[in-house]
Amino acid sequence: METPIVIVKNPGRLARMGAEIFCQAASASVQLKGRFAVALSGGSTPREMHRLLADPPYADRIPWQQTHVFWADERMVPVNDPASNYGAARRDFLAKIPTLSDRVHPMPVHLPPAEGAGAYQREMERVFKPAGNRYPVFDLILLGVGTDGHTASLFPGKNTRETKGRWVQVVKGGNPKVLRLSLTYSLMNRARQIVFLVCGREKASIVREIIVERNSSLPAAKIRPLNGQITWLIDSAAAARLQDES
Ligand code: 6PG
Repeated sequence: METPIVIVKNPGRLARMGAEIFCQAASASVQLKGRFAVALSGGSTPREMHRLLADPPYADRIPWQQTHVFWADERMVPVNDPASNYGAARRDFLAKIPTLSDRVHPMPVHLPPAEGAGAYQREMERVFKPAGNRYPVFDLILLGVGTDGHTASLFPGKNTRETKGRWVQVVKGGNPKVLRLSLTYSLMNRARQIVFLVCGREKASIVREIIVERNSSLPAAKIRPLNGQITWLIDSAAAARLQDES
């Protein structure tokens, strides 16, 4: 199956397209079932998009009263630490949308990691109320990819085995090399829509390895929604090697 790819000129256009996708997913989900549940990633790529969401024309189009914001992963650091994904998103847009307040669900970094993983799963259960032992279905998950092919905090060669029935994993790794919580492949692959946001020349090789060479061992390549839609939103610099001969 061809991987749906959208190549945009530069990071600014990627941020605007990402914000547009966010708006459309939010409106469609609320229209369909009265709620929009999104999971954000950290890192630098999504930040320009996050900032756009706080202001017109995007902010006015998002049904914030019916929106729930979760995270795909989080570093186990204090919220005011520059490495905090929640801390960055709060500065970039969440703090500017007061109506969201009790529907923002940061991962509990104040708890010991294993306890935090369980607590976050219970928070998702409380909001999604999945029937039986079903997984929650996110309407949109926004992901990035590292130059090593990681996504969220799922790193190559780590945590390849999931514990059945667990939706959140404790991981140590990445940059910074800290303890992290990450949603699992099984949970993320049940999302209705997954969008990878990828910018920059330094990502061109890993993008080629995932999309052209189809290296399925890489974490980002294991993100294949069972029933949902996936889109790779890539700027021209990160797409530079997609046409290479070998
Ligand atoms: C994290 C992120 C991570 C990120 C990639 C890409 O918490 O580390 O969720 O998976 O998406 O590392 O990061 P950049 O956007 O900074 O390249």
